[in-house]
Amino acid sequence: MEKRVAIVGAGLSGLLACKYILEIGLHPIVFEADDGIGGQWRHTIESTKIQNPRQDFQFSDFPWDSSVKENNPSTEKVQVYINSYAQHFSLIPYVRFNSKVIDIDYVGESNEEMKSWGLWSGNGSPFGSKGIWHITIEDTKNFRTEVHKAEFVILCIGKFSGLSNIPEFPFGKGPEVFKGKVMHSMDYAALDNKTAAELIKNKRVTVIGSRKSAHDLATECAVKNGVTHPCTMILRNVHWFIPNFKIWGFNLAFLYFNRFSELFVHKPGEHFLLSLLATLLSPLRWGMSKLVETYLKWNLPLKKYGLLPNHSFHQDMYKCSFGVLPELFYDKVKEGSLVIKKSQNFSFSKEGLIIDGETKPLETDVVIFATGFNGNQKLRNIFKSPIFQNYINGSTNANVPLYRQIIHPRIPQLAIIGYGQALSHIYSNEIKCQWLAQFLDGNIKLPNIKEMEKEPKLWEDTLKKYDSNWKSCIVTCAIWYNDQLCKDMKCNHLRKKGLLKEVFEPYGPTDYSGLVHK
Ligand SMILES: Cc1cc2nc3c(=O)[nH]c(=O)nc-3n(C[C@H](O)[C@H](O)[C@H](O)COP(=O)(O)OP(=O)(O)OC[C@H]3O[C@@H](n4cnc5c(N)ncnc54)[C@H](O)[C@@H]3O)c2cc1C
Ligand SMILES: NC(=O)c1ccc[n+]([C@@H]2O[C@H](COP(=O)([O-])OP(=O)(O)OC[C@H]3O[C@@H](n4cnc5c(N)ncnc54)[C@H](OP(=O)(O)O)[C@@H]3O)[C@@H](O)[C@H]2O)c1
Repeated sequence: MEKRVAIVGAGLSGLLACKYILEIGLHPIVFEADDGIGGQWRHTIESTKIQNPRQDFQFSDFPWDSSVKENNPSTEKVQVYINSYAQHFSLIPYVRFNSKVIDIDYVGESNEEMKSWGLWSGNGSPFGSKGIWHITIEDTKNFRTEVHKAEFVILCIGKFSGLSNIPEFPFGKGPEVFKGKVMHSMDYAALDNKTAAELIKNKRVTVIGSRKSAHDLATECAVKNGVTHPCTMILRNVHWFIPNFKIWGFNLAFLYFNRFSELFVHKPGEHFLLSLLATLLSPLRWGMSKLVETYLKWNLPLKKYGLLPNHSFHQDMYKCSFGVLPELFYDKVKEGSLVIKKSQNFSFSKEGLIIDGETKPLETDVVIFATGFNGNQKLRNIFKSPIFQNYINGSTNANVPLYRQIIHPRIPQLAIIGYGQALSHIYSNEIKCQWLAQFLDGNIKLPNIKEMEKEPKLWEDTLKKYDSNWKSCIVTCAIWYNDQLCKDMKCNHLRKKGLLKEVFEPYGPTDYSGLVHK
């Protein structure tokens, strides 16, 4: 009997997983809570565009339509692109919409038995033991539940969607005392454009946060409301934001996303010579960072508006916490429709917010938390077993400890896609799905559980040397990571034609198309 594979989520990760699982001759079922495909791209604010240049945010074997000319297409165009991909590879019939997975339960093996395993799933193979996943699904229209069974589950539920991260406040200092409206960026993004525009029209809006959602939201509000009702953005920390991927006309990818630039950084599991080289070349790494910082200080009024970070650009790279500025951000700051304030702490009063260094409350009508997501908690919540829930925690509560960023060493017959952070989440998830399909097809052998457990720890230990807040971000060693997956799949990890290109040309999605030909 054909092994049953269930995928949870039909965002980019779930669609990619579906496509590659179909290629190995299995017929997955994709459970999607929403009534359409595309995941978080169906629920973004009106002004959202992709951050990456278009050619980096694409499927390896399905280019953007030639009618799309912009470097950073809008969210609408992304939706069209994702839909065309799903149509082209006939993925839609495999998706069951309005089907929310309430929990998943691994049945058939005792906890004691599983704890004694030396090999993943008992024998190291994808459909290893006698265990089976029971997936409880709720029909979001009639709230009926049913249990579906599968030998393998792929969780593609999204790290940046579904569960918001909201700061906690002592009683009497939180939103309960505020007379205005409080919401999370996710809830604002879920509104249709007209309702969202009405909600903020002629209101004093305050946005909390200093990364991409905060920049986008604050700019959108400033554009809509102008100087008569300025939007205030409150930042706890300042991060490096670039206008685009060009530094003095030079593509940033040549400084950061080729093999040459990876020589300057320590990589997990590197041998002695590479480690020595990374140490010897560290002044160059510093120099690259300074080059970018100088360009940004030269071109943007960072100091004037208190937006000069007190850490290096490189550090933001390591943490995936740099971003691309919305086009009109500084125009709006200069004209006064966007006001920047820095505050480590804040609390609510009846009229607004109490922030550091101000004697009177900041009067406001709407507060929007652009404070990120709680993806790990969402992942924990989907497991019925408290033991599996605890496995998700990881050592720091910030990184889910996954072998190859795909498989938890102690959770059998299950993979997780979309929980690593990269520069472009299409291609980083696509190569993972290619790896996963090869694994399910029996072409990749896993080491024993103890060895598997060492791998995420090695990544964490290596990259935390650069920043102790590192969170599963592989941007600075993405090629090194992809090399490892290619080697597992027994395909050539050197994807360029010629030595010079191999060393200096930036790597991108099309370098990894069709890694394994059937
Ligand atoms: C506003 C925004 C803009 C972004 N822009 C970029 C960008 O420019 N470039 C980039 O590389 N990355 C970007 N990202 C990161 C982005 O998250 C990825 O690009 C990518 O879309 C993630 O896809 P995913 O499938 O992993 O997750 P999601 O898109 O979140 O999809 C998860 C899917 O799983 C479904 N689901 C969740 N739980 C369940 C359940 N229990 N049962 C059934 N279904 C469930 C959800 O309904 C959803 O459809 C952005 C993120 C955000 C929030
Ligand atoms: N393509 C696009 O246009 C686009 C748009 C939006 C989002 N995205 C992507 O989506 C992902 C999520 O981005 P995001 O901006 O929503 O979330 P995020 O990157 O997790 O940023 C969360 C922000 O909230 C702040 N924060 C968290 N807790 C706080 C607290 N208690 N008090 C004050 N501030 C607090 C953080 O401050 P610190 O910095 O001080 O920690 C940070 O600035 C990222 O990958 C991003 O690139 C892309």
